Amino acid sequence: MADYVGAIDQGTTSTRFMIFDHAGNEVSKHQLEHEQIMPRPGWVEHNPVEIWERSTSVVQTALNSALLQPSDLAAMGVTNQRETTVVWNRKTGRPYYNAIVWQDTRTDKIASALDRDGRGDVIREKAGLPPATYFSGGKIQWILENVPGARADADSGDALFGNTDSWLLWNLTGGPDGGVHVTDVTNASRTMLMNLETLDWDDELLGFFDIPRQMLPQIRPSSDPSGYGVTSKSLAYGGIPLTGDLGDQQAAMFGQVCFAPGEAKNTYGTGNFLLLNTGTELVRSKNGLLTTVCYQFGTDAPVYALEGSIAVTGSAVQWLRDQLGIIAGAAEVESLARRVDDNGGVYFVPAFSGLFAPYWRSDARGAIVGLSRYNSNAHIARATLEAICYQSRDVSEAMEADSGVHVEVLKVDGGVTANNLCMQMQADILGVPVSRPIVAETTALGAAYAAGLAVGFWKNTDELRENWNESHRWTPEWTEEQRTAAYAGWKKAVTRSLDWVD
Ligand code: G3P
Repeated sequence: MADYVGAIDQGTTSTRFMIFDHAGNEVSKHQLEHEQIMPRPGWVEHNPVEIWERSTSVVQTALNSALLQPSDLAAMGVTNQRETTVVWNRKTGRPYYNAIVWQDTRTDKIASALDRDGRGDVIREKAGLPPATYFSGGKIQWILENVPGARADADSGDALFGNTDSWLLWNLTGGPDGGVHVTDVTNASRTMLMNLETLDWDDELLGFFDIPRQMLPQIRPSSDPSGYGVTSKSLAYGGIPLTGDLGDQQAAMFGQVCFAPGEAKNTYGTGNFLLLNTGTELVRSKNGLLTTVCYQFGTDAPVYALEGSIAVTGSAVQWLRDQLGIIAGAAEVESLARRVDDNGGVYFVPAFSGLFAPYWRSDARGAIVGLSRYNSNAHIARATLEAICYQSRDVSEAMEADSGVHVEVLKVDGGVTANNLCMQMQADILGVPVSRPIVAETTALGAAYAAGLAVGFWKNTDELRENWNESHRWTPEWTEEQRTAAYAGWKKAVTRSLDWVD
């Protein structure tokens, strides 16, 4: 049997391919960024062709640099930025439009109309999601309404929709020459189009967005022993079984081995995503969280999760670098923030895509409040890191209220967890210890686990649990009074962000 499993992690800012051994150790990795296209305020796009080219290139380079053959991989998984919407032509393989990214707010009128006439409640009930610009349904509708030819081709079955998992799987399996058009239950649960109970596209929901069923991918398990297909012979790495597919936050649940109800993790990327495994029970949120599919193994019952999605966390640090120019690289934010002992009264609410969970206000706007002449760019840097942690506290409070589960230790992963100051703040602001595993690339690891479980490379989830080891733990240092006072300041700042637009 082959000794390794690989996974493509197609993220918001870059795509990586990672190869792991049986112990979950990284054997090889290659990563390439892609362009962030922002043609208008609130619009965020990616070029799907660039994403495919970078994806196939990182696979080839990672295999080559480890001197591995395709036959050394027992299976391959795909994980992806969720919700980001691609519509392409099945005959030519050409996209009709750039991918509309999850952060894009152009569909705010579509989303708010849904809430005015009662359709929003049907979406909440059937799909577990509040109507919002975040999800794929409105983005597909926008492409069908605005791109010449897209509607007619969707009706005739020539235009296909997919999140970037489907787009990559279709291209990996041959594209116009027999590519498979599939997605998994976790990605489908982010569209506002899938019924959470039947795990099928729902005709009433499709009708809300006027989306023809034939443009949608077949919904499959996240870890699928029957496989989605194999990599095409036309690729240099042909013949690898494709057996794992899941959204990146659900993949991180796998990588963090959150397989039991009550287990949770928080991933710190461009945004933050706190997920709690609720088992086979579908828990409906009363506090602004999403109900989503966590994963499905083969024909087993699906496992659900509650999710607190935060749009802007790590990307606020990029904003300090790219738009304000107060740091030269993202890592510098820690040393800049360390120049001061506290936030100096400054709070930053980075509501660049409105506010997601638990507020769901697409009209919220970013706010920096509490400034006096005393403040410097170091306070802004500190307030940016604190905003990452306060937003996580907002969703963690909602999670506890919805589920009754108090997370005793928060498992964390993602790029921002390399920032020690930020992780210490997180422990202080939450009042619980924060724990990071040795393999911090939990998203790619999770997709590899899903693919490897399907082919018997790993026998069961107990084997995966043995691979998880802590690398660092931060324990709270603030007093309860400090925590309460600081959080009250944050809540006040959020009201300013929400009140900005009448
Ligand atoms: O829902 C959006 C999320 O999947 C994006 O994750 O890590 O690409 O920012 P990331």
